[in-house]
Order: sequence, then structure tokens, then C-alpha cells
Amino acid sequence: MGKIALLSQRLANQIAAGEVVERPASVIKELLENSLDAGASRIDIDVASGGSKLMRVRDDGGGMDKQDLALSLSRHATSKIFSLDDLEQIASLGFRGEALASVSSVSRLSITSRCQDSTDDSAWKVEAHQGQEMDTALTPAAHAQGTTVEVRDLFFNTPARRKFLRTEKTEFSRIEEIVKRIALSRFDVSFTLKHNQRAIYNLRSAESDQEKQRRVATVCGPAFVENSVAIDIEGPGLRLWGWVSLPTFSRSQADLQYFYVNGRVIRDKLVSHAIKQAYRDVLFHGRHPAFVLYLELDPALVDVNVHPTKHEVRFRDSRLVHDFLFRSTHRALADVTPQDQMDNREIMTTGESAQHVEQVSGAGLREQANLGLYERPGTGRAAFQAGSRGFISGANRVQEQLQAYKKLSEDEEVPPLGYAIAQLHGIYILSQNKEGLIIVDMHAAHERITYERMKTACANEELKVQPLLVPLSLSVSKAEADCADEQKQVLENIGVGLERVADESIVVRQIPSILREANIEQLVRDVLSDVKEFGRSERIQAHQDELLATMACHNSVRANRQLTVAEMNALLRDMEATERSGQCNHGRPTWVFQSLDELDKLFLRGQ
Ligand SMILES: Nc1ncnc2c1ncn2[C@@H]1O[C@H](COP(=O)(O)OP(=O)(O)O)[C@@H](O)[C@H]1O
Ligand SMILES: [Mg+2]
Repeated sequence: MGKIALLSQRLANQIAAGEVVERPASVIKELLENSLDAGASRIDIDVASGGSKLMRVRDDGGGMDKQDLALSLSRHATSKIFSLDDLEQIASLGFRGEALASVSSVSRLSITSRCQDSTDDSAWKVEAHQGQEMDTALTPAAHAQGTTVEVRDLFFNTPARRKFLRTEKTEFSRIEEIVKRIALSRFDVSFTLKHNQRAIYNLRSAESDQEKQRRVATVCGPAFVENSVAIDIEGPGLRLWGWVSLPTFSRSQADLQYFYVNGRVIRDKLVSHAIKQAYRDVLFHGRHPAFVLYLELDPALVDVNVHPTKHEVRFRDSRLVHDFLFRSTHRALADVTPQDQMDNREIMTTGESAQHVEQVSGAGLREQANLGLYERPGTGRAAFQAGSRGFISGANRVQEQLQAYKKLSEDEEVPPLGYAIAQLHGIYILSQNKEGLIIVDMHAAHERITYERMKTACANEELKVQPLLVPLSLSVSKAEADCADEQKQVLENIGVGLERVADESIVVRQIPSILREANIEQLVRDVLSDVKEFGRSERIQAHQDELLATMACHNSVRANRQLTVAEMNALLRDMEATERSGQCNHGRPTWVFQSLDELDKLFLRGQ
């Protein structure tokens, strides 16, 4: 007697289901992808008890005729690819022909569908039998053009899986997350979501930029849109568009990050790495940026058949993609000027009003309350006016913004950060522009400007240095002296010229001219301690920016130093001219703005 027997169809499907159907949210994902692939323009999702009792997805897509309906539940049955060539450039979300077979093996599943262009224009319903072989029963039914898939009692026959389900609330929140992700992938499709008969989302299809932003605001919270810049950048065969958060709007977790490759939701190491790099300079350590980004490229240049859940992709030219993502995002962030932040604010506050925000989900509001550490005050709920200002593609941003500003203030030229009027407690500069009051943290602002200047100078190899009239000798530890000796070249690159003169002694001969007023001893000690920490390898080169940041910190105007009005104005003008000057090297804002309207409100004027 042989020991080998073929698995029953049901068992084989259940095993496959292990990979695809982990929890209710995975079923929702597969069903939504099917509806989108069927060309739906409207999708209604109904969920009961966190999905374990019922998940129903109804669409108005192409539908299936009787014959297709009978086949749809079989494993490896798909209408989306026919040959290996198709697999090379997949344009649909599904292609493995596994989802319905898998789900039907671990639940009570039925599909009702009507296909308009079939000769037989009537609706049919198919149900999977519960036997070992995956037979189906077809019956006539009533249904409008499109398809409804109903999944009841998920995992009723696989108790081990059922045990892993979490509370109703947790499972539902995962479903909600899937719906959000997919809703952001297709602005042209309407979505509704109900849980236990309660409406959670009602997202109407969005065409204009303004409507798209409204959907982003509904899904990600208004504060995200308020505190982000829109980007749209094209490269060779690539396009990246969407929204990235300002560095001052960061999160403690990487939970507000949506990335799409050709409309497909992706979680990919390469992508997160590229974007993280772009923020490296401007984000407070350990904080995460927020973004909604769409990458479009030739489907032949990306392989989606990497994993059954299709979350990962492989780029044919990953270096190119990494570079493009990094550069585009970095550029967009560099282009954020004080004026942009001002405009963004304005768009938000002069927007029509909260009634335009479509969704009233408890979960959504909760999320908004938890948003960014540095959320700008006073603009909590707002609607969005896309308009042409404020949301302009990266490269032209600065210029266009400046021009827009010039127009605004033609009668009287007032720069974006205005003119200084006073210094407060030796810490803040108060300045007024046409719209209101600006408060600048002068230490943070100055530090940022010095840093950006040194960085640019270093990159262009034009960092000016200044020999010390009297070389400064310092006693240091032996380890520090070793380190200084070994990294002489690196230190020279950043303008610090020194020499070891004894086992525990060094002499500093030159420093960057920009730092001539700093406390040189302290500066060199801090740089050495950084260098020691980064290790003694080539890696130090990669940390050059950190070293520059450490040095910049020593140059900044210390608190309590009295500045003249001319000095203050010079600082404001420098800020306007410097990239990334909206936050200090630690990601804190360098300035805030109070409009006259807001001040009026404080004093209950004109209400
Ligand atoms: N909502 C739907 N509308 C129309 N056809 C559908 C729908 N859902 C599934 N189908 C059909 O059933 C087939 C099998 O679906 P599925 O098991 O998810 O595999 P895949 O999506 O990988 O092709 C699909 O290829 C499609 O032809
Ligand atoms: Mg599918």
C-alpha cells in the first residue's frame, strides 16, 4: 500500500489560504482588488462583528456571466493573465487566481453577479458546497450590473485560525486601514464602509485636486494636509506625486505612510529607506515622516509577483528608483520656504469650513487628535482649497511662491518673514509682516542657517577657512588624539586643521571662517567626541553632515545676546534665502506665525 495520497481540493485550498487569508482584513483586501480589477466606479463594504461574522463587498463593475461565475471559485482560475508574457507586465491587482478559492475554503462564501454584455443578461448566484471537493451550486438571482461577494463565518471550519483572531474592534480597525489604503489608491472610485450597520466612511469619487485633497484629509486627518507639501516630479520614465509632511509635522510611529507603485499599495524597504534619507537632515531623531506618495513607472520595470499578498515589489533598477525617490523628496523639502508654510496655513484657514470634511468616523477623529507633536495651533479642523498657490510641483516652488508673494504685496514690499520690531527676553525676535505677527527662535534659526551654508560650501568645496593667529593647544585623551590623527583628512574637509603634537596633546591651526566667533576649544572637543563615536572607518565621511551640525551649533547666537534691529532683519532675510530654514537641525520649528485674525479672536474683536 503506498503512503502518498492527493490532498482533497478543500484541504489544498485551505493550505493555500494560510498564505493569503490571515484575518478578515486580508479578505477585504482581496475582494476590493477584485472589484477594482472589474472596473468598478463604486464599491460598498458592509462588515459585521469585525468581519468574522460577515463581510459583504458590492460593486458596479463588469460582473461575471454564468460560466465565469462557476469557474471563479476554482483554484488558479483567473481572467487576468493568460501567459508568462502577461506576468512580465501586470496591470491588474490580482493575477494569481487564488483568492476566491482560498476564501471559500475557510468560510461560507457566495457570489451574485450580473454581466451586462453577456448574451444572457440575467444575474446568477454561486455558492461553494462544504464538502471535501469544491463543488458549486448555481441559481438564478436578482442583481444590478456588477458583483456582490458575501463572506460569512470566516474560519468556522479552521478553529486554529479562528483562535488567532483578536477583538472585534482590533479586527475592524485593520479592515479600516485596508479600506483607507485602497481608497487613497483610486480617487476615481467611490467607497462606503459600514460596520455593524453604522456608516464609517462615505467617500465620493474625487476628480479635482481639491476633491483629492479632501479625500486625503478624510483618510489621513486634516492636519496632515495642512502640514504637508504637494509634489509632482517627473524623471526618466518615472513620475512621483503626492504629499509629504513638513519636517515640523512628524510622528512617533511610521503609521502615516502610504506608498503606491502603479496604483498598488506597497510596503518596501527600499522605498522607506530612500524617503527616510531625504528627511534625515531635518527630522528630529526617532521621529517618522508622514506621506502619501504615488510612483508611476513602466509596469515592465517592476516585478509584483514576489509574494502572495503582493505587498512587496522588486524594481528592475532599484538604484535608479532609490535615487529618484530620494532626490525628489529631498528637493521638495529643501524648497519649503517660510512663505510656503505661510501659504499652506492660509489655504487651510481660509478654506470653506469643516462641513466639507466628508467623514465623521470616531476612529478618524481619534487619529486626528493624536497627530503630530508639533502640530501648528489654531488650524485643527479645516477644509482645503487646492487652488494653484501652495501646491505647486517641487522644482518651481520657490520662484513661483516668491512671485505670488510679490503680487500680493505689490503696493508695499514686505518680505514673507516681515520686519523685526523687537527682541523678547533675548530669545525670540518679534517681527511683523502684512498678515500678522511672526515669532522667531533666533538661536535655532541661526544654527540652521550656519549649518546649511557650511553644508553647501563643503559640497562645492568652497568652505572658507581661517588660520588662527595663535594656534590653540589642547590636552586631550590618548584615544582622542589617536582619532584626531587618523581622521585628519576628514577634519580638514570640514575646515578644521589640527595636528597631534604629543601623546595626549593636539594643536588647532585653522577653523572655518564662518565659525570665527565660536568658542574654538569647545567646538573642537565636541567634534572630536563625535568623530570618536562614529568610529574610525570610512563611515565618518557619511557622518560629515552631523559634524557640520555640531559645529553649526557652536556658532549660533546664544540666548541673551542683544541684537540690533538691523542684525535681526539680516537674520530674517537669511532665513528666507536658506533652504530648510523652517526648522532647526533637530526638527523643531524655527518660527511661528499668528495672523491678525487670530489675534483679533484672542481679544474677541469683531466676533
Ligand atoms: N468583483 C468581481 N467582479 C468581476 N469579476 C470578478 C470579481 N471578483 C472576482 N472575479 C473574477 O474571478 C476571478 C478569480 O478571482 P480571484 O480568485 O481573486 O483571482 P485573481 O483576482 O487573482 O484573478 C477573477 O480573475 C475575475 O475574473
Ligand atoms: Mg483577486
